Amino acid sequence: MIPWAKPSLFGNEEEFLVDAIKSSWISDGPYVSKFEEEFSQLMEVKNTITTSNGTTALTLALLGLGINPGDEVIVPGFCFVAPGNTVIQIGAKPVYADVDIESWCIDPKSIKKLINSKTKAIIPVHNYGNMCNMEEIMEIAKENNLYVIEDAAEAAFSKYNDKFAGTLGDIGCFSFQATKTITMGEGGAVVTDNSVFNKKMRKFRNHGMTSTKYMHDAIGYNFRLTNIQAALGCSQLKNLNEILFNKKRIYDSYLKNLGNLDGISFQKITPNSDPLIWAVAIKIEPSKFKSYRDFLMKELSKRGIETRPGFYPFSKMSFYNAPSLPVSESISKDIIVLPSFVSLKEKEIDYISDNIKSLIKN
Ligand SMILES: Cc1ncc(COP(=O)(O)O)c(C=O)c1O
Repeated sequence: MIPWAKPSLFGNEEEFLVDAIKSSWISDGPYVSKFEEEFSQLMEVKNTITTSNGTTALTLALLGLGINPGDEVIVPGFCFVAPGNTVIQIGAKPVYADVDIESWCIDPKSIKKLINSKTKAIIPVHNYGNMCNMEEIMEIAKENNLYVIEDAAEAAFSKYNDKFAGTLGDIGCFSFQATKTITMGEGGAVVTDNSVFNKKMRKFRNHGMTSTKYMHDAIGYNFRLTNIQAALGCSQLKNLNEILFNKKRIYDSYLKNLGNLDGISFQKITPNSDPLIWAVAIKIEPSKFKSYRDFLMKELSKRGIETRPGFYPFSKMSFYNAPSLPVSESISKDIIVLPSFVSLKEKEIDYISDNIKSLIKN
């Protein structure tokens, strides 16, 4: 079976992990600060605060900005569920904007309609690595005095106007879970240039403790990353060029094989951006195929190809009470996410592409 995702491990991980363990620093430790420094340099940002995962990174960002119960935060109707959940968990209200039919990312026009006096922040999510229209989003935020938390969990190393995803808004969030571009098994980070947010988030990450040991002035959390996870992260950064090269290769090869076929569309790359596509997703036009999306996924599975469906939109999960979101609903049911891991071979991409082509009606 060709899995849809697999961590990119290169063989140097053991050396880093053994070093972390031998040092006896297994909770916080020197690899945590090393990763934070290296990531800040790579992202060209002043502060990186690592977290236990990408979800806690989002929560930390909301806390850092002082989002309170009663506040509203605009999130996309189509994305991984974490932005909606974290807003609810801190007691605020997620308000769901529809996405753009071509980029599959939050639609600035939809954001504008949802702003009221309770709105405090927008969370643009760079779905699958494609960038949101950050120029318009930042303009809307400025006009309405809103914060912007970029969810760059799927977009590490994507760029917009030559700036890295996560560094355009007030705070950027990353995930380093096993399937992500950079992995630590589980892990995450927030980045910011703002020293006030940085200080607040460092405090909230560590139980709300002030610089005086065991003196707390806020209800904080333990969102810390371990030295062992950070050691894995540092080993990944040593192989960054290979990761970036292969992610681009995989996207280009799928685009070459499937990009011009009637019945298949790719996410339209947002103008002014240079995305690093984390997971290659295609949207099928069911009338052009022998059957609908879920049947095609089963057919591909029978042929040894594991795929993933698009995210369910919030409006299709009754628990969230989201209003109908026509674009999110229409794209979500036709999306197939293809194997996109770094060690995926060209002949495997050809095999996957040929099998998809064979399911198109003659
Ligand atoms: C857009 C997005 N945000 C947040 C998360 C949460 O990250 P984690 O799984 O590391 O908690 C993920 C995925 O896993 C994601 O895809």
